[in-house]
Amino acid sequence: MAMGKLEKKFPEAYEICRQFELDEGAMRKIVQAMTNEIYMGLAKETHSTASIKCFQTCVQDFPTGNERGRYLALDLGGSNFRVLLANLISAKEIDVISKTYAISKAIMEGPGIKLFDFLAESIAQFCKEHKIENDNLPLGFTFSFPCKHIGIDQGILVTWTKGFKSEGVVNKNVVEMLREAISRRGDLKVDIVAILNDTTGTLMSCAFQKQNCKIGMILGTGTNACYVEKTSNVEMFPAYQTSTKPHMIINCEWGAFGENGELDFVRTSYDKAVDRESLYPTKQVFEKCISGKYMGELVRHILVELMDKGVLFKDATSQILREREKFDTRFLSEIESDKPGQVRNACKVMDELGVRGTSEEDLLCLRHICQTISTRSAKLAACGLVSLIKKTKVKDIAVGIDGSVYCFHPHYHRLLMENMKLLLKDSAKFKLNLSKDGSGRGAALTAAVYTRRPPSPPK
Ligand code: GLC
Repeated sequence: MAMGKLEKKFPEAYEICRQFELDEGAMRKIVQAMTNEIYMGLAKETHSTASIKCFQTCVQDFPTGNERGRYLALDLGGSNFRVLLANLISAKEIDVISKTYAISKAIMEGPGIKLFDFLAESIAQFCKEHKIENDNLPLGFTFSFPCKHIGIDQGILVTWTKGFKSEGVVNKNVVEMLREAISRRGDLKVDIVAILNDTTGTLMSCAFQKQNCKIGMILGTGTNACYVEKTSNVEMFPAYQTSTKPHMIINCEWGAFGENGELDFVRTSYDKAVDRESLYPTKQVFEKCISGKYMGELVRHILVELMDKGVLFKDATSQILREREKFDTRFLSEIESDKPGQVRNACKVMDELGVRGTSEEDLLCLRHICQTISTRSAKLAACGLVSLIKKTKVKDIAVGIDGSVYCFHPHYHRLLMENMKLLLKDSAKFKLNLSKDGSGRGAALTAAVYTRRPPSPPK
């Protein structure tokens, strides 16, 4: 069906989608606002009011490509906890064994001590399985939440984000909490040498192979980016004027952009509804417009309104779309994977949801809504990356990217490229590199870079 015809058939849906459009002017305004917040985040005087906090990570050393040996890595940030054993064999080869442990809602939202006992228990299980519980291997802990780093192995949780609400952890040193949980057990020896954000892991893992990688980005459940800054600009770092190391990775925490109202001129009533129903209303505004935890919800809110108006799914039989979080972000990737004008996957998704009796036109309209949300997401992410590229002033730069939305969405990479090129014109050359499992490999690499003793030989 020709697009004009679909618009005629569903004018209300097209009207809603238009509210999500971002033209070049709006994007440039967002780049400017993000740039301002980044400068404010870095400066001592304005740090506390900035929406992009630009936290110091204390990561000032980068992989050389010569890191070798066995390291443990932990990855906490989504609905799973992962433990990894990475064997750095050569600059091209990292052998990884890993296991995923599902975290229940009760643990995510219960007392902190239970969360850390659960982490320690999972690490102990993993290490026993691989007979390394007494090896005291260096460990890198990817903890993907805003943290104040007071040392490479010291991170104080500023606030939980995404789906976490574990009590008694905010303002605590999470490495200490993990060390205590491990020593309560008494059956495990590990050496926690670094705590890092998943964006840092992604940058480190990309930098292991590409020297010009200066930015790491995550587009998954949440979104965030980090970049390499001159130490002398990191005013929140006590030794910023005297440090002999010229650079430091900055964890931007750009998901919070918009908390000062900077996105109010583009936010729609659907964004506001998603925000109201979230675990932390008014927080992580940028993240709620673009990341995987919320894209499906945005589509669902639009669908529900169109169903209420009697526009869409008139003959459909299920009410499931009225339930929160039932429309997974992975459905957007599936629906948009079809050839243009086709709805085979949309049909499969509806089947999976148990919604029967949708017409082909309904599904084409659904596809248009998904494309609208994905496109806006990629445009906003492009604004963020462009502001960071401009901030670094590097003329030929590589960006390491990981996260489920970037990895699985069929057009995300292209949309990012197109919009970044539009905004950057010829001012900088850039490459976007998939940094697969940046959090896992990156944690192992960071542990390798920061290990204070020679690495154990490969087994
Ligand atoms: C959230 C977290 C941030 C993390 C991002 C991606 O925004 O606050 O630390 O990097 O999600 O996982």
